Amino acid sequence: MVESLNITPISGALGARVNGLDLASRLDPRITHLLKDALLKYLVLVFPNQELTPKDQLKIARKFGRPDIYPFLDGIDGHPEIIEILKTEKDKINFGVHWHSDTTYMARPNMGTILYAIEVPRYGGDTLFANMYKAYDSLSPGLKSMLHNVRGHYSSAQKNIGGRDAKMKNLTGMKKAYTETRAIEAIHPIIRTHPETGRKALYVNFSHTTHFEGMTPEETLPILRYLTNHAVRPELTCRLRWKQGDLVIWDNRCTQHKALNDYQGQRRQMHRITLKGGRPK
Ligand code: SIN
Repeated sequence: MVESLNITPISGALGARVNGLDLASRLDPRITHLLKDALLKYLVLVFPNQELTPKDQLKIARKFGRPDIYPFLDGIDGHPEIIEILKTEKDKINFGVHWHSDTTYMARPNMGTILYAIEVPRYGGDTLFANMYKAYDSLSPGLKSMLHNVRGHYSSAQKNIGGRDAKMKNLTGMKKAYTETRAIEAIHPIIRTHPETGRKALYVNFSHTTHFEGMTPEETLPILRYLTNHAVRPELTCRLRWKQGDLVIWDNRCTQHKALNDYQGQRRQMHRITLKGGRPK
């Protein structure tokens, strides 16, 4: 079925470009169904050459799930579910620079994210994605059984990377919208089963996982470091070179991503919608 869409994979690990669709026009429900299947298959879908208003982006988001409110930033005017990710020419740091899956610190982390490129740098500002099914599948049987039933603590203020507060304060274009000051924390299985595919995925990330239940952060760190490095081996990843007008949707339940910060002095502006998710199991 997915074959009837014009899809080109962008790496052997994950990610695909869906060509020739105008997402602002009315989509046949059959196409929406195929796109959902394609997302489960490729985990990251790129729709090039889109011309979308915020309302269009929300309409598309609602075909894939229920838009959520991001706790740390206010939305754009009139659309609380859409946040602007902006790095100006003056900013030195960027949003989402460390590998992570979105909002794993929430009790019900976001199942998916929809990012629309409004302005992109001439070069740089790519986003990397990693396939967390493959990260799990490629662990040894011994390590898999050791990690089976381990639960992790996840925090929005992960100390290893300075916490979300430290990062956001320095983004001049985004700071006015900064609202949430408390850390948000949750406990989840570190191997989760995808509710739709039934496949197991590694569910740790260096941005939010602080420690494993019953272990100290110091005891956890060497294992966490191993797992997070393992998960982002080049053959488990893809790299997205953004073009203005790209709309990308990814599945946070089985991927991680990282926004590169290699475009100093240039501007990058995106609109992001996250989709409500369930409790990881
Ligand atoms: C994010 O972490 O959601 C932002 C990714 C990006 O800006 O490429």
